Amino acid sequence: MVQETKHVGIESLSTENATLKLPNGQKIDLPFLTDAANNQFLDIRKLQPSTGICTYDPGYTSTGSCSSTITYIDGKEGVLLYRGYNIEDLAEQGDFLDSAYLLLMNELPTAEQKATFEQEITMHTLVHEQLIHFYKGFKHDAHPMAIMTGVVGALSAFEPYAADIADPASRMRSCLRMISRMPTLAAIAYRTSRGYPIIYPRNDLDYASRFLHMMFAWPTQKYDVDPVLARALEKILILHMDHEQNASTSTVRTAGSSQANPFACIASGIAALWGPAHGGANEAVLRMLEDIGSKDRIPEALARAKDKKDPFRLMGFGHRVYKTFDPRAKVMRKVCHEVLEHLQIKDDALLDIAMELENVATHDPYFVQRGLYPNVDFYSGIVLRALGVPLDMFTVLFAVSRTCGWVAQWKEMAEEQQRTPKISRPRQMYTGYMLRPYVPLGDRYAKDHDEAGTVSNQDAAAARFANSMALESRQVSCNAARMV
Ligand SMILES: CC(C)(COP(=O)(O)OP(=O)(O)OC[C@H]1O[C@@H](n2cnc3c(N)ncnc32)[C@H](O)[C@@H]1OP(=O)(O)O)[C@@H](O)C(=O)NCCC(=O)NCCS
Repeated sequence: MVQETKHVGIESLSTENATLKLPNGQKIDLPFLTDAANNQFLDIRKLQPSTGICTYDPGYTSTGSCSSTITYIDGKEGVLLYRGYNIEDLAEQGDFLDSAYLLLMNELPTAEQKATFEQEITMHTLVHEQLIHFYKGFKHDAHPMAIMTGVVGALSAFEPYAADIADPASRMRSCLRMISRMPTLAAIAYRTSRGYPIIYPRNDLDYASRFLHMMFAWPTQKYDVDPVLARALEKILILHMDHEQNASTSTVRTAGSSQANPFACIASGIAALWGPAHGGANEAVLRMLEDIGSKDRIPEALARAKDKKDPFRLMGFGHRVYKTFDPRAKVMRKVCHEVLEHLQIKDDALLDIAMELENVATHDPYFVQRGLYPNVDFYSGIVLRALGVPLDMFTVLFAVSRTCGWVAQWKEMAEEQQRTPKISRPRQMYTGYMLRPYVPLGDRYAKDHDEAGTVSNQDAAAARFANSMALESRQVSCNAARMV
């Protein structure tokens, strides 16, 4: 089961040149590239070598870091495609294996290919028993994402073939093993954090059902997975699989560009996913809805979200790429209603607040003018809570799903690296001191670090205290994104 991703030579995308004129009068012709979706890019690869000039783009809002054939997003129209297939069709009509195979292999599988793929994924769901000892080393209240960062990185030590990234068969094996083992690792993180016995994977179940079984079954009694809930989870997994060059995927690619072990690269992706501005958002949405508490406090929440002096943001709203409804949010909204109806959860207070918040915010000029609409995380938290998934496992579940995208993107990057090795290494704009003489310890005095010697010790101490208080209050409000 070795398949290389279709390679599209960048040079073939170049149609014409753009001429850049520098302040010193120097002119440079830069290729103008047009991608498959007619988006245009300026190819600046020769800018620095031939002029010594770099571009400045913190947050990479205007920078394409790679070319890719995996996922396409049209943020204005609210379109998301995996290898050309609409995400709504994949979630509504396909299953987990279809999308996972598609991302990795470029095409939807035939029946025969799907059976082989299923066998590959299913037969490797167990993890080395020695790895399970790692979980015992964590504090009882460790966040499962902290545990996942550690144990997935540790997989590097248990999969010795993986270091041979020059070998296509070894690369594919790493990708498949990662997809197989991730739900097992995630479920063990949950079970051990609660002191519950570990449930081993049952290979007669499909991917989503197997995960629910490992999460919620008991060794002492029979546990039947509810097919409606398993299908809802499967849709969540499909919707979150890939999202082109987001923070965690870019992290995986960056780590991989140094030819690091693929399991370590995925661990770095998990770390990047954890934050509330990325994968941690669904956890933050639920906390926010709980903190709002009732519909009559929505105006207060909106006022705070608009107040530039207040770090509070409406969690589950806004996206770097989508400036309209996130297409995944549409599917998730439907799943949310299906699950609550199936479980006969009527008058769910958080859903009521969410619906009202969505209604008010999507008609509020502040949000409309900035293109801030609900993203996938806005509803996924409510669904996960209904499935019985605890809050601190929300982002872990996201990581289970995103693993399919991470490995597909890692594999594409690794193939490209075999053709043209290039470590990811951005430049910086340096704004610090230039060379200055070393100061012996006895001659040093405390001073504000960016006002060289002009601030008295007392002023500097007061400034440090004020800074640390501001930082602390920022951390408290950012971490929890709370309404208090
Ligand atoms: C996702 C997110 C990080 C994208 O950020 P970004 O592309 O860098 O957008 P910016 O931070 O530049 O925001 C643009 C403007 O919208 C505002 N804005 C963005 N998201 C906002 C939110 N959730 N609530 C209130 N205002 C928001 C910003 O304050 C800024 O306003 P300004 O132009 O008046 O300064 C951001 O929208 C966010 O923090 N959302 C909440 C977290 C979330 O749901 N993340 C999950 C993403 S799938």
